[in-house]
Amino acid sequence: MSDFEDSMDVDPPAGDVKFTGDSSKGKRLTAANLPVEAEDSLPWVEKYRPVSLDDVSGHHDILATINKFVDSNRLPHLLLYGPPGTGKTSTILALARRIYGTANMRQMVLELNASDDRGIDVVRAQIKTFASTKQIFASSKPDPNASAAPGSQRTNSIATYKLIILDEADAMTNTAQMALRRIMEKYTSNTRFCVIANYAHKLSPALLSRCTRFRFSPLKEADIRVLVDKVIVEEEVKIMPEATDALVTLSRGDMRRALNVLQACHASSTPLRPKGVDVKDFVVTREMITTETIYNCIAAPPPDAVKEILNTLLTTTDVTSCLNTINALKASRGLALADMITALSEEIVKVEVSPKVMITWLTGLADIEHRVASGSGETVQTGALVGVIRSGCELMG
Ligand SMILES: Nc1ncnc2c1ncn2[C@@H]1O[C@H](COP(=O)(O)OP(=O)(O)OP(=O)(O)O)[C@@H](O)[C@H]1O
Ligand SMILES: [Mg+2]
Repeated sequence: MSDFEDSMDVDPPAGDVKFTGDSSKGKRLTAANLPVEAEDSLPWVEKYRPVSLDDVSGHHDILATINKFVDSNRLPHLLLYGPPGTGKTSTILALARRIYGTANMRQMVLELNASDDRGIDVVRAQIKTFASTKQIFASSKPDPNASAAPGSQRTNSIATYKLIILDEADAMTNTAQMALRRIMEKYTSNTRFCVIANYAHKLSPALLSRCTRFRFSPLKEADIRVLVDKVIVEEEVKIMPEATDALVTLSRGDMRRALNVLQACHASSTPLRPKGVDVKDFVVTREMITTETIYNCIAAPPPDAVKEILNTLLTTTDVTSCLNTINALKASRGLALADMITALSEEIVKVEVSPKVMITWLTGLADIEHRVASGSGETVQTGALVGVIRSGCELMG
């Protein structure tokens, strides 16, 4: 059945594959003398996408290992997996640039992602054709744009193998993954595969066993801060130090999220140019980004609201009045129950109670979260939240 679907549209040949991390992009963007409004609308995630492997924050062990593989010309098939926004795609594009240089990337790399059709037809036709053809003339001139790591020995010839990047491979059909297995083995002499996915368990076990696996864990706060601080300086973002702390913590290891939120807050802190005023005459005075702005942008309940809610839940013995107060708080602060539960679950573990009470609270919260996620009504589930916390408190006697 999938064969039939796949034959509907076939991707253009490899030559047309575009690389999002093209190094010319950085130049184009920084050189662009755009009006204030247009500059604000450029996505920073693309503007600050790492160009070389050295630019990738965190994941030091993984990067060191991959660098060693390339230096000794022993690159295995790779599998990079982990949560979104941790740098998988960026790492592999930087690696391709490191191996081949920007100029040679087009001939040597085939990048397919979820936006391309990667059904069985493409595996049979496009991937197989690309993998089975050999590079006859290896370039002998080093690419000036190639970002060879310091200490790298091989700078005077590009690798003889080609690279096939299968981004978002967990979305590939089962049949296509099956067909890949033999292709991977057969053409190992001149092709390396790099499979990228969010969930390793969605890939076929046979495919997994053919690759060297690297898990990209959520980035540490310090790693996120490195890039966030750089962007703040380069884009002249007016932000309070506490707000930066909140941003780094709330992005929960997702660099993409951190940059997107920062850009959104920066844009909202920039005043609009009044009609009739020329760009040159318009002096931009931005507002300071505060912790509150960050919380509003991420739509996370502010810490004082969470404290107030928790306090009410723990101290109000009368369940009905407790529920009324919570509902009033929810309405006045404009909070969603799902966000409240996430924030509460982080705070509630800090309360010192007996294990029995804590277990009641945690399992209760987990159940409510599940029900809310599967579409239960807010009103009833808010009641359940009050019920769970109060029944825990009743256990305390
Ligand atoms: N480790 C990192 N170092 C520097 N920038 C990063 C890092 N991780 C993510 N970024 C930033 O986030 C953006 C998105 O990263 P990338 O596309 O590599 O994520 P991903 O891991 O492939 O996510 P997804 O699973 O959603 O595809 C990049 O353009 C870059 O600006
Ligand atoms: Mg990606």
